Amino acid sequence: MLELSGITYAPATAGAPILDGVGFQTQKGRPLLIAGASGSGKTSLLEIISGLASATSGSIRWNGSAVKRRQLRWLCGIVFQFPERHFLGLSVAQELRLGHRRLGHEREQSVLERVGLDSIASTTAPERLSGGQQRRLALAVQMLRGAEVLLLDEPTAGLDWSVRRDVLDLLADLAREQVLIVVTHEPELFQDWDCQRLRLQGGRLEPMTTLP
Ligand SMILES: Nc1ncnc2c1ncn2[C@@H]1O[C@H](COP(=O)(O)OP(=O)(O)OP(=O)(O)O)[C@@H](O)[C@H]1O
Ligand SMILES: [Mg+2]
Repeated sequence: MLELSGITYAPATAGAPILDGVGFQTQKGRPLLIAGASGSGKTSLLEIISGLASATSGSIRWNGSAVKRRQLRWLCGIVFQFPERHFLGLSVAQELRLGHRRLGHEREQSVLERVGLDSIASTTAPERLSGGQQRRLALAVQMLRGAEVLLLDEPTAGLDWSVRRDVLDLLADLAREQVLIVVTHEPELFQDWDCQRLRLQGGRLEPMTTLP
């Protein structure tokens, strides 16, 4: 279980606090969807959860124990809004092996299968994959890292309807075994997704009782 309490984020460069006492609990089984307008602080929140940025105050607990920024970096895997911009490998296999020089064929295949990429030749260049396949590859990279918490920033941005459906089904499936948090400014695209829903507004998180 991942638990945030009283998270405030007020970088000196920002006029007002970006996050102002944010808290929630989430666990594997069901994804958490956080909706918020552009500029509401969604990406900042993911950066804090994943240890890429430091909260000004507040605490983060994992299975009941307080975790520091360094541990969060191990625990969490973030899939950015446009993962294709962050690929470094020249092929799918190379991308998966960055940081895993001894990655066995079996482990590689099982992760590719888990994200539905097992029918793609591992020699394919990441930039030749479709938008949906690139999201899957970015997820596979984070899963290989052993991330127990998957954080996704606008995972369906720029995908067409049927591909978006497939990605959402995959995420719902992964969420059964992993903590999974999605942030979006388009909650209407997630209308029939089975998830816990919160809204980020004015630096605070509140339950989203009505669907958009
Ligand atoms: N380190 C920082 N210093 C100053 N301001 C910051 C910093 N990080 C983020 N901000 C500001 O905080 C606000 C929230 O930014 P953030 O990127 O988290 O929003 P977002 O909800 O992800 O928006 P979008 O939907 O457009 O991606 C913005 O006004 C941004 O300019
Ligand atoms: Mg953002």
